[in-house]
Amino acid sequence: MSSTTAEPAEHAERRHFPPDPAFAEQANGTADLVEAAAADHEGFWAEQARTRLTWAKDFDQVLDWSEAPFARWFVGGELNVAVNCVDRHVDAGNGDRVAIHFEGEGGDTRTLTYADLQREVAKAANALASLGVAKGDRVAIYLPMIPEAAISMLACARLGAPHSVVFGGFSSDALKARIADAEAKVVITSDGQFRRGKAAPLKPAVDAAVSGETTVEKVLVVRRTEADVDWHEGRDVWWHDVVDSASDQHEAQPVDSEHPLFILYTSGTTGKPKGILHTSGGYLTQVAYTNAVVHDLHPETDVYWCTADVGWVTGHSYIVYGPLANGATQVMYEGTPDTPHQGRWWEIVQKYGVTILYTAPTAIRTCMKWGDDIPARFDLSSLRVLGSVGEPINPEAWLWYRRVIGGDKAPIVDTWWQTETGGIMISPLPGLTDLEPGSAQKPIPGISAEILDDEGQPLHDPEKVGYLVLTKPWPAMLRGIWGDPERYKETYWSRFGPEYYFAGDGAKYDADGNIWLLGRVDDVMNVSGHRLSTAEIESALVSHPSVAEAAVVGATDETTGQAVCAFVILRGGAEDRGDETVQELRNHVAKEIGPIAKPRQIMVVAELPKTRSGKIMRRLLRDVAENREVGDVTTLADSTVMDLIKTGMSGSS
Ligand code: WT7
Repeated sequence: MSSTTAEPAEHAERRHFPPDPAFAEQANGTADLVEAAAADHEGFWAEQARTRLTWAKDFDQVLDWSEAPFARWFVGGELNVAVNCVDRHVDAGNGDRVAIHFEGEGGDTRTLTYADLQREVAKAANALASLGVAKGDRVAIYLPMIPEAAISMLACARLGAPHSVVFGGFSSDALKARIADAEAKVVITSDGQFRRGKAAPLKPAVDAAVSGETTVEKVLVVRRTEADVDWHEGRDVWWHDVVDSASDQHEAQPVDSEHPLFILYTSGTTGKPKGILHTSGGYLTQVAYTNAVVHDLHPETDVYWCTADVGWVTGHSYIVYGPLANGATQVMYEGTPDTPHQGRWWEIVQKYGVTILYTAPTAIRTCMKWGDDIPARFDLSSLRVLGSVGEPINPEAWLWYRRVIGGDKAPIVDTWWQTETGGIMISPLPGLTDLEPGSAQKPIPGISAEILDDEGQPLHDPEKVGYLVLTKPWPAMLRGIWGDPERYKETYWSRFGPEYYFAGDGAKYDADGNIWLLGRVDDVMNVSGHRLSTAEIESALVSHPSVAEAAVVGATDETTGQAVCAFVILRGGAEDRGDETVQELRNHVAKEIGPIAKPRQIMVVAELPKTRSGKIMRRLLRDVAENREVGDVTTLADSTVMDLIKTGMSGSS
């Protein structure tokens, strides 16, 4: 395997990239847009809502912030999200346009036009209704990246039944907790999924998650791998039995603009994931708008591809809702980037003539490691916009992405946002912004942000590090945490008072007024763009009978951004069997949460560094995990603990 690394110039100088005039000429994001948003915040968003979406009933108030921080957008308006994403494109004469080019990992393909999608969604909606799903009921979706995932989400939206998509890489325990919290009535899953050339089972995790007392009445199962599955008569139903035979005519009812569209669980600072709630009108407005102006989508000519999984918010907003609301043609890929070979993604770009690619820095760094010669074997000249999301993209990876994938010409949009924000918040506009590698740059038109210091004072001095806050409500903002309004207020609206949404990210300005995002300031880690909580992994570790105490930190990792590093104290009586113990604990975390949460390293220690009040000093553990000189230990209750940890660590990773 060869690995030609980036040109030396990519490390050295700081380079800016002004927009290409020809690109600017055709771009959706213009100076007029910036001006309009600055002149009239609510008027601007009302215009986006009315021009980008089709409302069954117009709204009479743009924003109701009287119950802050609980917002209502486009008050009094009614619409159906699925109709906006599917039917209206068919009605407008675009039924023959391809909505989804599906590419299975094994090379099987499926093409769904908007007319096909309309029929499939209508059938699925009829089938779900026949299984007892009505407006307001919650449906859990635990599926691989196959068209049925998008079809299921849209069918739920059509019925006004909020979905809760659970990433297929989460364990059955994690699924069970999410089903219970949302009190889901139906689960949609598949027999299995193709992963790295093999069929991996999925349904057994659902079987375990719904065993015992449960709110789940029906399990709808898509056949994907044809693996044998255990069958629970009366509860389990095959998709090909009930959906395929259902009528392809379905009358969709409009819902209120604030009707819940979905719940999506994300990690917070405590052990219990938060059910982030998003609603209909405001969410759809912002994801359609940002997909148009940030990705510069032109639905008639572009072929768009977002490599995320629908189990994450990126998949919700930029595979399903944003692009489909805009009538995009997109690629959906089931598998991993290196199956059956490391050029798979670039082969797909070439095959479909992908023009807009939206992916994560961790994937870019991985491809960079594999070497320039791999993408060089494919024709990538169709690419005209590149996007990045999930974590800061280091300038080196940015420059490589532009040069090797973008043919030295495609603008890169580094998009900062969160599960909670629903849509993109801070990003360059590809036809307008002088691009600065490594920085997400400025809030997009319609969004307002600040950086505050410890005391909550706005910070404008370049290079001073503070906290990112959002200063005005935005349409796709979360409407709360499912079932826990107090936690919503406490988590996001109390750190700097009720006027500021606290994002949990450190940030600074540079001399040009660009915002640089510097990672989380709370106990949340970002591993390969996936959000994991230290507390959640700690509680998984201590649920193992051998573990007395655990502390988890995110250590810098060259490829994944951060990596999970755990320090554990074994219970008296539990024997330290070295590597075997470490493997057992890593597998235990995978079972409790999912393989993505598996610690890269587990160190068995005798003590953990704590302050006099008993708080674990993660900062010091991070120093150890990153092989650095350990910092200031004067606030430790016992300052010798760190020496003990360092000497006792050998051979336990
Ligand atoms: C956290 C949100 C946004 C969808 C995927 C992740 C980090 C995200 C960027 C970026 C720097 C970024 C932040 C944020 N993050 N995008 N472009 N530059 N950091 O959604 O799982 O809710 O995670 O991801 O730390 O708070 P999420």
